[in-house]
Amino acid sequence: MGAFDTLLRPGILAAARSDRMKQMSQRWAATERVVRRFVAGETLDDVLAAMRRELDDGLSVTVDHLGEDTTDEARAEAAVAAYVTLLEAMPTLGDRPPGSLEVSLKLTALGLRLPEHGSKIAEENARTITAAARRVGALVTVDAEDHTTVDERLAIVRSLRRDFPDVGTVLQAYLRRTEDDCAEFAASGARIRLCKGAYAEPPSVAYPDRRLVDESYLRCLRILMKGDGYPMVASHDPTMIEAASVLADEFDRAPDGWEHQMLYGIRTDEQRRLARSGARVRVYIPYGTEWYGYFVRRLAERPANVGFFLRALAG
Ligand code: FDA
Repeated sequence: MGAFDTLLRPGILAAARSDRMKQMSQRWAATERVVRRFVAGETLDDVLAAMRRELDDGLSVTVDHLGEDTTDEARAEAAVAAYVTLLEAMPTLGDRPPGSLEVSLKLTALGLRLPEHGSKIAEENARTITAAARRVGALVTVDAEDHTTVDERLAIVRSLRRDFPDVGTVLQAYLRRTEDDCAEFAASGARIRLCKGAYAEPPSVAYPDRRLVDESYLRCLRILMKGDGYPMVASHDPTMIEAASVLADEFDRAPDGWEHQMLYGIRTDEQRRLARSGARVRVYIPYGTEWYGYFVRRLAERPANVGFFLRALAG
């Protein structure tokens, strides 16, 4: 592990939880320029324009209305309303291939951390959004947050899938439990987005270094590709991208039986190269005013991003 991983990354991720840092950075005009690299904008029009660009280039999209860790029921309701408005606006994007539109939800934005009945409220809110998605032919995937939320999230996803079998979720290869979760969800035919994991986690639950996380990712990917579900390979890492094609061939998966996924603003040339080669590629597009936590996690993933941010502040 390099000095970035051991010394800087935990501090940057801790800043993701700091209200003071959040308020300060949201006041800097310079931050906005850098944030724009990773976030489509703050308004519905911004995200619809970004979606149209990606779709016109032959990519699929999944949209995240930014927000997390809500402890206020009214804010959770506002998040639901924002998703429903977004979904109802999707038909203005015109006829698109089936499955190309999706939203991604964070259960803590929908109330999971409310002091009372958080799990029940988050599930009801997710259900309202999923029903709205079904009306316009869009898919839903439930994002993964820190490890303390995994059991509740997976219970909610199992429950939603009884009524909406195509609801997907995210599994994080850095968690020691994830191979077992992959086996369960692959056997039940679920759509599973496999990522490495972006939160600061203790070694008791997560692999402490990148090599072990990468090995876990490859084991999980094999389980998903071999299973009965729909693997969504969420990684920008060339090793994982290559391994996905090799495993898809090994298990005779058709090109429409799995997909690559990458984040908005990261390796955009590679996204287009893969799409041109005939692979399915989906871009995760975040938008909204609550970009702080998402943005800090992107800084923590890569030393170069911190430099990029500091240079923008200086200039
Ligand atoms: P890795 O970090 O090894 O990066 C490989 C290469 O990709 C780098 O060398 C660089 O070229 C490029 N790259 C990666 N990150 C970059 C960045 N921030 N800026 C610029 N270049 C970068 N996590 C989570 O905990 N819960 C979730 O729900 C999700 N959801 C999710 C959806 C999708 C579609 C993706 C692609 C990712 C997530 N993640 C996530 C984030 C994920 O866990 C992980 O932190 C990042 O994808 C970075 O890991 P990579 O697999 O890309 O590899």
